[in-house]
Amino acid sequence: MHMVDATTERMIRSVLAYAENRLRLDPVPLDQGARDPAELDVVVGGLLGDDGHDPDQVLGAWASMLAPAVISADSPRFLGFIPAAPTKASLLFDMLISCASIQGISWLEAAGALHAENQVLRLIADQAGMPKSAGGCFVSGGSAGNLSALVVAREMAKRRTVSGRRWRVAVGTDAHSSIVNTLRILELDPLTVHTDDHRVTGAALRAAVEADGDPSSIAAVVATSGTTNAGIIDDLAGVSAVARELGVWFHVDGAYGGAGLFAPSVRRKYDGIEHADSFVVDPHKWLFAPFDCAALLYRDPSIARSVHKQDAAYLDVIHGTPGEWNPTDYAYHLTRRARGLPLWFSLAVHGVGAYTDAIETAIRLARQAAAEVHSRDYLELIREPELGVVLFRRVGWAPGQYAEWADGLLHDQVAFIPPTAWQGETVARFAFLHPQTPMALVREILDRMA
Ligand SMILES: Cc1ncc(COP(=O)(O)O)c(C=O)c1O
Repeated sequence: MHMVDATTERMIRSVLAYAENRLRLDPVPLDQGARDPAELDVVVGGLLGDDGHDPDQVLGAWASMLAPAVISADSPRFLGFIPAAPTKASLLFDMLISCASIQGISWLEAAGALHAENQVLRLIADQAGMPKSAGGCFVSGGSAGNLSALVVAREMAKRRTVSGRRWRVAVGTDAHSSIVNTLRILELDPLTVHTDDHRVTGAALRAAVEADGDPSSIAAVVATSGTTNAGIIDDLAGVSAVARELGVWFHVDGAYGGAGLFAPSVRRKYDGIEHADSFVVDPHKWLFAPFDCAALLYRDPSIARSVHKQDAAYLDVIHGTPGEWNPTDYAYHLTRRARGLPLWFSLAVHGVGAYTDAIETAIRLARQAAAEVHSRDYLELIREPELGVVLFRRVGWAPGQYAEWADGLLHDQVAFIPPTAWQGETVARFAFLHPQTPMALVREILDRMA
């Protein structure tokens, strides 16, 4: 299994040929997702047993049955949830990293890889206006980043007091579900900040704190820079000011929308992010990196290190090396893939300007789609888009009609655009991210609602 023999040679040829073909798809087709397991088992069942199989047979099972049963998140027709659009450069470099078994825990083991990752983190921190001291690591996703950051926030609150009290986190109603999960995992309670327009402001936060009457129980304030469902950026300047007054941790969840920092047309909406104690942005979303990759930054990484550093006799050697920066010290993980490197390679190849253009393209698509919605009397825009998400309703439709419309579009391989809910009502939603999504496709999707 570990030697380069005739079977290995054949696998190298056939797997690389498959990967080459996948890379050359332009555009990537959608394919269909959910399938009956029995249908899949017709080809795949029985492959796992004591004896092995011919690699081309196994690859054939993948290519003919399993791969087409996966909706391609990187298709320009994927307009649901939050899509993906990794650059070809980032995908190629990801393959290289897969072949290299880089153990991204420590400076001792992987200084070269970590130095490149840190350059990307620096670039993002600079874009956010965070201080030179800022730093962190790449984790698997926004959920992992939010959890790792709020672990630090809770620990800081605990260190401020001797009591074994239960801590709370002030958070808006539209914060991502991973924040809700994190609070549950960490046994933190929410102090929910309600607003009329789903955007947390400093004033709304202050009002919630005053009405609550127990500000000393607040360990952190979480703001979102680009809500998942609607792309709303909270009032980061106002919220950060209240967090400072309270003397509590300020975390910004930019997993989806943080990439807008690179887009001049919306950069001002992020003012105040420079005050974040921690900030998460997912390059596997709108910074065009492959899954799975989130950048987690701390204003003062030494605080995070004091919480996350793992101590074990066998790990003593990774501490105290000159120039040391151990990603394991800045999140809950130990072993980690050097998942920031595909972004590093792609940024170096294409330049930051190409990223700015691609992000602006999605913002422009959202504005143009909103105009198309306005121009049709059977549609209503729910709110003007701030980033790449557009929410709209088909006048008179019941939830089942949205589902039929979305199923039909997927069946016909036109688009993947599942409905969502807004204030309890089923509505339609575009999530633009891929710079090659054509406006003609947007019009076709809207026309099918007439
Ligand atoms: C605002 C926000 N936060 C957190 C997450 C979770 O990120 P991940 O899926 O990478 O764990 C998402 C995912 O869509 C998100 O949009």
